[in-house]
Amino acid sequence: MYQWRAKSIEKLMAEKETSRHRLPRTLSALDLAALGIGAIIGTGIFVLTGVVSANYAGPGIVLSFVLAGIASGLAALIYAEMASMIPVAGSAYTFSYVSLGEILAWLVGWNLILEYIVSAGAVSIGWSSYFVDLLSSAGIALPTAITSSPFSGGMINLPAALIVLVLTGLIITGAQHSATANKFVVTAKLAAILLFIGLGFRHIDPANWKPFLPFGTAGIVHGAAIVFFAYIGFDAVSTAAEEVKNPRRDLTIGIVASLVIATVLYILVSLILTGMVHYSALNTASPVSAALLRVGLPWAAAVISVGALAGLTSVLLVVLYGQSRIFFAMARDGLLPPIFDWVHPRLHTPLWDSLIIGLVVAAIGALLPISIVAELANIGTLSAFIAVSAGLLVLRAKRPDLPRPFRVPWVPALPVISIAMSTYLAFNLPNLTRIRFIIWIFAGLLVYFAYGYKHSNLSVNDNPPTSLKFKIPKPALKKISHPTRKRDS
Ligand code: ALA
Repeated sequence: MYQWRAKSIEKLMAEKETSRHRLPRTLSALDLAALGIGAIIGTGIFVLTGVVSANYAGPGIVLSFVLAGIASGLAALIYAEMASMIPVAGSAYTFSYVSLGEILAWLVGWNLILEYIVSAGAVSIGWSSYFVDLLSSAGIALPTAITSSPFSGGMINLPAALIVLVLTGLIITGAQHSATANKFVVTAKLAAILLFIGLGFRHIDPANWKPFLPFGTAGIVHGAAIVFFAYIGFDAVSTAAEEVKNPRRDLTIGIVASLVIATVLYILVSLILTGMVHYSALNTASPVSAALLRVGLPWAAAVISVGALAGLTSVLLVVLYGQSRIFFAMARDGLLPPIFDWVHPRLHTPLWDSLIIGLVVAAIGALLPISIVAELANIGTLSAFIAVSAGLLVLRAKRPDLPRPFRVPWVPALPVISIAMSTYLAFNLPNLTRIRFIIWIFAGLLVYFAYGYKHSNLSVNDNPPTSLKFKIPKPALKKISHPTRKRDS
């Protein structure tokens, strides 16, 4: 018979302390902030803004960004409390494990695959469209057959697949290197956005904002459900928890600061974009450069395309990195095969996770269209937000004693509003997306009962040591190979 089970926070921390499969602490507060901004600002603002304003929200897209930003901001506060209390790799998956129990945690982890792997696929497709645009403005036209998926009139989206494979190589060579590369790229991306704001501001024609809500208020909400994609990624900061030098303080700073900066930039860019050009002319995959071309600034369009490429690269880098750390955490709990928590002895990175993830994302980028991929990523992320908010309520009730370096205000109101907003946005996604999501959940349950339930640490060891960290002196811990399972190294 199925047995409901959860993991205690003490056991979780003890396992982390005693596991041979550990990641070194190399990331500073600045690395984290760059990681957050690197993960957040990308396809949402540079690509989806065009289609959403043209087809869903008109100039009212700025309100879509505000609405999606509020939903994400509430979730961000909740993630900040959870991450500072439980600084262990795995993000929403780990928080759910200790609050909601194993099976729900598995489903959250399973849905994070949508948030990370699938959204990385969407970002690689956006990257490819800016890349192709940039080459064509330099007079180099690549054939559609190798730059579009079979759904979009081509055969394979080769640039999308190649950029993913290159970045996978970078991640495999070490977290510290990736963080350094990320900081350069984030700087280029922010510079491009600020340049756009500075130039675009002077070309606003208020007539373009009329009508402001051509699709009514329903358009704002539909738009918000899609541009929500632009906010995905702040939680990637929490997936790096085990590699942060001072996790209790810096995780909160990293999560909240990066989301606030992104929200302000989104509001400014969408307002300026729809003020520069009539929304009906924005139905393009590269709306930012299209708007600059339209007001007669081709040099700026080229510069900003380079910045957009940099921006999309950093999103890919962080999302690929985050997913590998989630698989790592799930494998350490026994829910995925041991190959996923093996750390390369010289590179100190979970090599197999990165490699397998890179290949799957490359295949998604090469073969699927952006709309399907982005909507699935949104619903996967919204479900994780709902689970983490519920988890916070459970832990406040069950474990009020735990130290919380950061506390969400107005509990239970704030987490309840967060759950309501995420659910509302999920219901504003197309029906087909919801059906795909339900199929995905069923597939997840099948995998859990076929593998995870039997191999979980909670199943392998019926009487797990719950407070190793507190009972056994440190030197003794070093001699313990792994508290629960034997595996290869
Ligand atoms: N938020 C990320 C982006 O917009 C996923 O590309």
